[in-house]
Amino acid sequence: MADTVVGGTPDQHASGSGDDPSRRDFIHIAAGAAAVGAVGGLVWPLIDQLNPSADTLALASIEFDLTKVSPGQQVVVKWRGKPLFVRNREPVQIAAAVKDDNAPMPDPQKDSDRHKPGKAEWLVLIGTCTHLGCVPTVGGGDYGGWFCPCHGSHYDLSGRIRKGPAPRNLEVPTYAFLSDTKIKVG
Ligand code: FES
Repeated sequence: MADTVVGGTPDQHASGSGDDPSRRDFIHIAAGAAAVGAVGGLVWPLIDQLNPSADTLALASIEFDLTKVSPGQQVVVKWRGKPLFVRNREPVQIAAAVKDDNAPMPDPQKDSDRHKPGKAEWLVLIGTCTHLGCVPTVGGGDYGGWFCPCHGSHYDLSGRIRKGPAPRNLEVPTYAFLSDTKIKVG
């Protein structure tokens, strides 16, 4: 019967100050906080790497030399992975766009809302159709602006949607004139 213990010494770890409920809670909270901190430390680099890298941010703005675009022409530049249309409108094209300012349109805008003051010849637009993102062709369609071959959207000489399924005008990006012959986009 040597291995039968009756009324043995109380286990110090099972009761007394070591099992104080408030102390136990503290240990759990501290352990939980450490675990959250460790997970946060792991997750943040994963999230952070989704942010644009320095070389991508450098491409966020571009400068463009307008002397490359003759009157009546359009040049397409790649900007932030999208085509950017820079069109040099002739006076007759500007007049046609202004004449239609009050025509019924899905997304009404004046021509003057779509270019910089005093720079009516320059249209700067993001060249993706506002329907499903195809690239419209310059000079096509019923209004002489652009025509999107994917589902037949017609844009006028101001880049306003006039006919077809696209809901909005071609988007005008943020840009500024640095001089008479240079713009900065973005
Ligand atoms: S994507 Fe242009 S009309 Fe559909």
